[in-house]
Amino acid sequence: MPFAASFWKQFAATAALATVMLGSTGCQRLLMGPAKIHEVEERPDQVKDFAVLYGENCAGCHGVEGKNSPAFGMNNPLYYGIADDATIHNWSANGGPGGQMPAFSTMAGGLLTDDQINVIVKGMRQRWAKPAMLVGMALPPYAASHPGDVSHGGQVYAQACASCHGVADANGAVMHPGKAGSITDPTYLSLISNQGLRTITIAGRPDLGQPDYRNDIPGHPLSDTEITDVVAWLSAHRLPEPGNPHPTGNGTELQRRTGQ
Ligand code: HEC
Ligand code: HEC
Repeated sequence: MPFAASFWKQFAATAALATVMLGSTGCQRLLMGPAKIHEVEERPDQVKDFAVLYGENCAGCHGVEGKNSPAFGMNNPLYYGIADDATIHNWSANGGPGGQMPAFSTMAGGLLTDDQINVIVKGMRQRWAKPAMLVGMALPPYAASHPGDVSHGGQVYAQACASCHGVADANGAVMHPGKAGSITDPTYLSLISNQGLRTITIAGRPDLGQPDYRNDIPGHPLSDTEITDVVAWLSAHRLPEPGNPHPTGNGTELQRRTGQ
């Protein structure tokens, strides 16, 4: 099954499960009448336990153990080397730029207080960061400092990614995604931001077999520029309207964006 399809199915299944669970507690309440005061152990905004907060709010998409999950596996030591607490807090509070990662802060319409988000951020770092492992490693910066060179990014893809994700033709189209599935499929790209692609390219997905930036090309860690450019090239495959394969009439979206 192509990668994007499996990603989407897992994602949909998680969402459906959440709806069923919400629905069933609602039904129970209807049958049993309103909650009595002594049944209420703790106000939801008073919960400060990492396992409860992470388990109820994050695990469905990021994995109970932070791995083997549809969205980025948070159990990834390299991630805590590139992303500081403020960055992780900001994503958790306000969601992501593409809208696939929900906002959790009460300020942004979510249900978690700032303190609760801090508990989650600190708890993830405590469990999953391994600072000793990163000593002496020149990690690329978390964020890109420029938009990137799409055409050079195509060369990086050919050298560093094509062996697993499929060779791109002269128009940038990947007709036969390799064993690791397509990462140029517009449906997949509509579910992830450029930062999300960058994070995975740097930190890898050890749970799924996606190498980190040191191991795409044996003996040649990807540079900041190579990472920025390959993300720009992947991003150029995004369609304004995923699902409509030919929104621009002539040529591919990649040709339109690169002016080729
Ligand atoms: C409905 C699924 C879903 C839930 C629930 C969810 N996330 Fe996410 N999260 C995502 C997706 C998808 C992305 C990637 C989004 C992107 O790149 O646009 C993401 C991205 C992130 C990132 C950014 C990773 C990076 O690239 O730096 C952080 C941090 C994060 N989530 C933390 C959390 C925390 C903490 C919770 C619980 C409070 C949570 N998420 C709940 C789907 C979810
Ligand atoms: C040695 C093989 C290999 C190489 C080389 C490789 N990947 Fe992957 N990649 C994988 C595997 C395996 C997966 C997981 C696929 C799955 O589980 O469906 C993956 C998944 C991904 C994902 C999706 C992960 C997610 O959870 O959304 C992205 C993005 C990605 N790779 C980017 C890249 C980029 C960019 C390059 C080149 C710089 C690259 N990969 C090189 C094997 C590879």
